[in-house]
Amino acid sequence: MGFSDGYLLSLTTVSLFFSLSIAFFPGYDTHFMGPGFPYEAHPLTGLCPEYYQFTCPQADKIVISVLKEAIAKDPRMAASLLRLHFHDCIVQGCDASVLLDDSHYIVSEKNAKPNKNSLRGFEVIDQIKEQLEEACPSTVSCADIIALAARGSTVLSGGPTWELPLGRKVSKTASLKGANANIPPPNSTIQNLIALFARQGLDQGDLATLSGGHTIGVARCVNFKQRLYNQNGDKKPDETLERSFYYSLERVCPRTGGDNNISPLDYASPVKFDNYYYKSILAQRGLLNSDEVLLTGKDQFVAGLVKSYAEDEALFFDHFSKSMVKMGQINPLTGYNQGEVRKNCRRVNDAF
Ligand code: HEM
Ligand SMILES: *[C@@H]1O[C@H](CO)[C@@H](O)[C@H](O)[C@H]1NC(C)=O
Repeated sequence: MGFSDGYLLSLTTVSLFFSLSIAFFPGYDTHFMGPGFPYEAHPLTGLCPEYYQFTCPQADKIVISVLKEAIAKDPRMAASLLRLHFHDCIVQGCDASVLLDDSHYIVSEKNAKPNKNSLRGFEVIDQIKEQLEEACPSTVSCADIIALAARGSTVLSGGPTWELPLGRKVSKTASLKGANANIPPPNSTIQNLIALFARQGLDQGDLATLSGGHTIGVARCVNFKQRLYNQNGDKKPDETLERSFYYSLERVCPRTGGDNNISPLDYASPVKFDNYYYKSILAQRGLLNSDEVLLTGKDQFVAGLVKSYAEDEALFFDHFSKSMVKMGQINPLTGYNQGEVRKNCRRVNDAF
């Protein structure tokens, strides 16, 4: 309480200072900040939904039009872009570090174990960036583009929408180590998952809710093979796998080889953003170990949410929106002296 009180107090002081300075210097143009500045900024992160209201009002429209085309060509793209936002945010915060290619200065996160041969959507982000650079040069950051693409992909898949705080600058560094250490592996236990989310300020509720992103998209055999053939080092399948589901997975994912064969994360409705992911978990048909342990991992709170979401899609949508906003505000770079707005999402501006 003390912290936020102090914070509000200083915010008020700053606002007062602003109003006064504007009153005394009437020629001072505050228009670019938006009418409510700084009241509408998120109290902790400085992001706000109206960030591009005057500098690039058409930003979201451009994002959506590129997404529509990309998803029409490849329905899985919506899932890939949603995942990209997660993998951006849990490494150094939502700073578009995930988009940087290898260079003299950068060791790309794209080669981290969870990302290599797996993370997709970079070309779509490039296309969006290109169009945005034409419409509003050097204005919309690559981290905001990822966040807008994740929301747009959710909406275009039939899921909820939310007011999206914007104004992230992007980093000039990447962290391969951070990607390997912070992105949860698919064979995580519930304790691992809770711990890895907690590192990012995300709680058990966020874990149950954001895992619902797996209502769209696919996983490769290599990521669920352990469950089929050697779950506990005893050469036996995971006993929580429903039997006919097990047999169908066995056909896609043989004991040896076939590592890149894919299977839907939500077999009941793989391209629709709905609550069937949770119904599948209740039917013991969650694909990854990290999906099934939300129910079987003996965390009563998380398991309770899985059941609630399976029953009540509106509740899931409401919580998902809130948790996405929260995840999207992990450690953003804001302010004039932090980060930059890249011209090309794959490299930092002063690289040569
Ligand atoms: C809770 C911990 C999580 C784990 C252990 C996990 C793990 C995975 C794995 C292993 C894959 C398949 C990758 C491959 O086989 O190439 C995957 C795919 C995916 N993940 Fe997660 N994930 C987690 C959380 C999330 C979150 C929070 C989101 C978004 C809100 C998300 C969205 C997705 C999507 C949409 C896909 C499908 C991507 C595609 O088809 O291209 N995941 N995840
Ligand atoms: C998860 O898989 C990795 C290999 O990919 C293995 O080293 C690790 O022991 C597994 N963890 C669990 C909890 O089974």
